[in-house]
Amino acid sequence: MNKGKHIPVTNEEKRQRLQRKRVEALAGGGEARIEAQHAKHKLTARERLHYLLDRGSFEEIGSFVKHRSTDFGLDKQHYLGDGVITGYGTINGRLVYVFSQDFTVFGGSLSETHAEKICKIMDLAMKNGAPVIGLNDSGGARIQEGVVSLGGYADIFYRNTLASGVIPQISAIMGPCAGGAVYSPAITDFIMMVEDTSYMFVTGPNVVKTVTNEEVSSEDLGGASVHSSKSGVAHFTAANEIGLMEDLRKLLSYIPQNCEEHAPLSEYRMSDEVRDSLKDIVPDNPNQPYDMRDVINGVIDEESFFEVHSAFAENIVVGFGRLAGRSIGIIANQPAFLAGVLDVKSSQKGARFVRFCDAFNIPLLVFEDVPGFLPGTDQEWNAIITNGAKLLYAFSEATVPRVTVITRKAYGGAYDVMNSKHIGADMNFAWPSAEIAVMGAKGAAEIIFRREITSAEDPEAAWKEKEEEYAYIFANPYRAAERGFIDEVIMPEETRVKLIKAFKMLENKVDHLPKKKHGNIPL
Ligand code: HXC
Repeated sequence: MNKGKHIPVTNEEKRQRLQRKRVEALAGGGEARIEAQHAKHKLTARERLHYLLDRGSFEEIGSFVKHRSTDFGLDKQHYLGDGVITGYGTINGRLVYVFSQDFTVFGGSLSETHAEKICKIMDLAMKNGAPVIGLNDSGGARIQEGVVSLGGYADIFYRNTLASGVIPQISAIMGPCAGGAVYSPAITDFIMMVEDTSYMFVTGPNVVKTVTNEEVSSEDLGGASVHSSKSGVAHFTAANEIGLMEDLRKLLSYIPQNCEEHAPLSEYRMSDEVRDSLKDIVPDNPNQPYDMRDVINGVIDEESFFEVHSAFAENIVVGFGRLAGRSIGIIANQPAFLAGVLDVKSSQKGARFVRFCDAFNIPLLVFEDVPGFLPGTDQEWNAIITNGAKLLYAFSEATVPRVTVITRKAYGGAYDVMNSKHIGADMNFAWPSAEIAVMGAKGAAEIIFRREITSAEDPEAAWKEKEEEYAYIFANPYRAAERGFIDEVIMPEETRVKLIKAFKMLENKVDHLPKKKHGNIPL
């Protein structure tokens, strides 16, 4: 018997009870804690959903769920929803499933029931083919619950993995996230962080101090700046939480709901597609840098470039864009940074992006100006062999429409890797400024004409002469075009129209990989 409690009998009383519970659930961890969060310019879990989703579209699932633990006094501390708000709504009218962790309830930590709520919406997302967005703000597994919380995380990791490549999964990091709260995002497609208020680490600064005696701040250990530039864990950073929500909504506009669909088309009416601004971007001096973003922005629809991983491995630029309203994934060497050379990090960055686009039917456009792979012990010891092979593998197995434009250098193995025809690209274009060869003319002349150069009366002059001879033969696109390795040599200003037509021609492309369980990408 519920002694002393008023048990609702009439329907009106039952409605009032539901109303009271809803107010309780909406308050989350209590008004006082929410106010404290505002002081730190952080939004509450519920406010975040308000800014993320289309107004009024959110439908909550599981707001009455409570944890089942009794140890460590937990039997006396219950919060409706158990520290995570789950449900579905729309973004720009398209269905998404969401969870938003509430740090004011046990530090957003993951209990058995908290995990069950997340799994429930992930299962719904898989069955209904729509993205899952996680707003993470959690200290990881709820320590008081022991192994059941670990089990709960494993249930989520398992679903993250099965959902990978089926539905887009996006993780927004909204506060200090530790333990399982970073491993689940790590399996998802994109991680977004807020500057100064969000952190990601497997173990926090206190544990680091205890175990290794190293003193480090949360920011230096796992802040947005560290993860967007040093580790590459974060794909996007925003100055504040509202900015992150805007970026997240924008990101979704480029990608389809699931692997069976295509990205939404934006309206576009063809007009004069010649772009004179592209004529003068590549300098006459082949060693002078230029910003490949000028080429990208000159070719694709105005203001449509949405860069991914912009502060990490800047020698390669990746991101989404639109060409005549169609979503495309762009991978471009960046001559303005390390001369656009391929190295360990840029290969990892490029490969990951190529695989995302291929999994979700987003055609690939490559702009190539690459002097080769970066030589040296640092690169070899950090496995440039394995990592460079990731990019090669990722392009080779991609079955979406694939087009390359060589703007200047395409040297050595990097020529093969950067979406060459040999590894399955559909169309390769080159600008007249393209140089396609095994290596640069100076180095090539030194190797193959060593004897002539050293025995010459004036070795310097002989070297220069041989360099010019090699450059004349190979530092152009025509040898490759004679063989059909390049489909057409095109003027820079006509690149946009050529690409619009090429991608239109390829829009119904069907290509299959040999039957297999799965490949074995060199991880
Ligand atoms: C239960 C937790 C908690 C947790 C935080 N809290 N983490 N409660 N389980 N995992 C509670 C705190 O007790 C505190 O409660 C409140 O949340 C706020 O925490 P603070 O420490 O005051 O906040 P802050 O200083 O901002 O530090 C945040 C933090 C830190 C860096 C996340 O709390 C932390 O290091 N937590 C533990 C991280 C961790 O080791 N998690 C387990 C990882 S193992 P009160 O009542 O005082 O407000 C794991 C396994 C998964 O996740 C498997 C991976 C493969």
